[in-house]
This record gives sequence, structure tokens and C-alpha cells, in this order.
Amino acid sequence: MINIAIDGPAGAGKSTIAKMVSAKLGYIYVDTGALYRAIALYIKENAIADEDIEKSLADADVSLRFVDGAQRVYLGDRDVSGLIRTNEISMEASRTSSIPAVRAYLFETQQKIARENNIIMDGRDIGTVILPNADVKIFLTASAEERANRRFRELSEKPDCPPYEVILKDIIQRDYQDMNRETSPLRQAEDAILVDTTSLNLEESAEEILRIIREKTGRE
Ligand code: DC
Repeated sequence: MINIAIDGPAGAGKSTIAKMVSAKLGYIYVDTGALYRAIALYIKENAIADEDIEKSLADADVSLRFVDGAQRVYLGDRDVSGLIRTNEISMEASRTSSIPAVRAYLFETQQKIARENNIIMDGRDIGTVILPNADVKIFLTASAEERANRRFRELSEKPDCPPYEVILKDIIQRDYQDMNRETSPLRQAEDAILVDTTSLNLEESAEEILRIIREKTGRE
């Protein structure tokens, strides 16, 4: 199986770009952030206190399903793929993903998908912890200001769009939390290739990643 790991900070365009690239290659795209978001939703909906999180995980029953190649995330039999896409869950997932028991709980789910499929998996610790032997590792980034700009443009069509300054502040806070936690912090693996998309559009970013994958795997 071919495993491609894409890590990087929030808002670097990982999911959009990874989807474009996986469609071209016919690989499954796995968004691991959705797993952490689903856990955050579970914790919030059940008002679970931090000290009770570890023992409650056994009942969370988080899983990924793939419908026509597209990922859906489930809590039990409930598809929560839409519910996890709020700013509140973003911040809560960033916080709760630092809990070692949460990371340990999701470890095997991620490795199993990678063992059984050709995948592009995006997250924060895919190249460093989950798939240290991935065939290709990419670290995708962009400046915090550019990431906030992109997020602002995306949200500006929605009625409750926060001001740009709030989005930028949240991005900087999430970067800090994701990079400074003790367990599996966000960092570039030694053998990962850095792709900075600050001045690249989506097509250019996808092209660059495809070029790296072709070069590394020898596959068209
Ligand atoms: O990629 P995302 O924004 O959907 O991720 C939400 C949060 O989950 C992010 O702030 C950090 C965490 N996360 C993680 O710790 N490890 C991953 N592999 C993916 C996400």
C-alpha cells in the first residue's frame, strides 16, 4: 500500500489540497482532524469533565466510513460530519487532542486504514507518529496571516462570520496549542518535504505535491 502523510498547521489548505491530489491518484483521502473533532463533540455533548475523559472514551465509538470515496465520521450510528465543523469544536478539538489517552484511543483507527488502503492522510503527527514509514511525507504550511485571510474569505459568506482579527488570534492560539503540547506535537518530520503555500493557489499547491509524490514513488 502507498501511504502519503501530509501534516501542517490549521488552515494551510491540507484538506482541500489532499482531496484534489487523492482524486487524481485514486487514493482514499483520510482527514484525521475529523476524528479529534468527533471526540471533542462527544465530550461536549455529554459534558464530560477532563478527569473523566479517559474512562469515557471506551463508550465514544468513533469511526470513519467511506461513502463513494468520501469520508464521513460517526459517533455510534450517528453521522456527525456536519456538526463537527464549528469554530467552537475547532478550539475544543485543539484542546482535547493534547490528552494522551485521546491520541492513544485514535492511534489504531488511523494505522488500520493506512495498512489496508492507498491513502493520503492529513493531520498533525502523521509523518512523525502515526505513519513514520510513510512513502512520502509533506509538511504543508503558510503564514498565519495568509491562513487567517483564507479562513475569513471562506466564512465571510456565513451570517455569523467573526472579524478577521478574531480568526487570526484563534489561528495563532491553535498553532501554539498544537505545537507545544507534550504528546505528539505538530512538527515537521526530519524526512518531510516542506511546501509553503503562502503565495501558491490551490492548483499550484496540488501540482507541487503531485510532483513530489511522482518523484518519490516513481508512480504517475
Ligand atoms: O485539522 P483540523 O483543524 O480538523 O484538526 C482539529 C484539531 O485536532 C487540531 O487543532 C489539532 C487536532 N489534531 C491533532 O492533534 N492531530 C491530528 N492528526 C489531526 C488533528
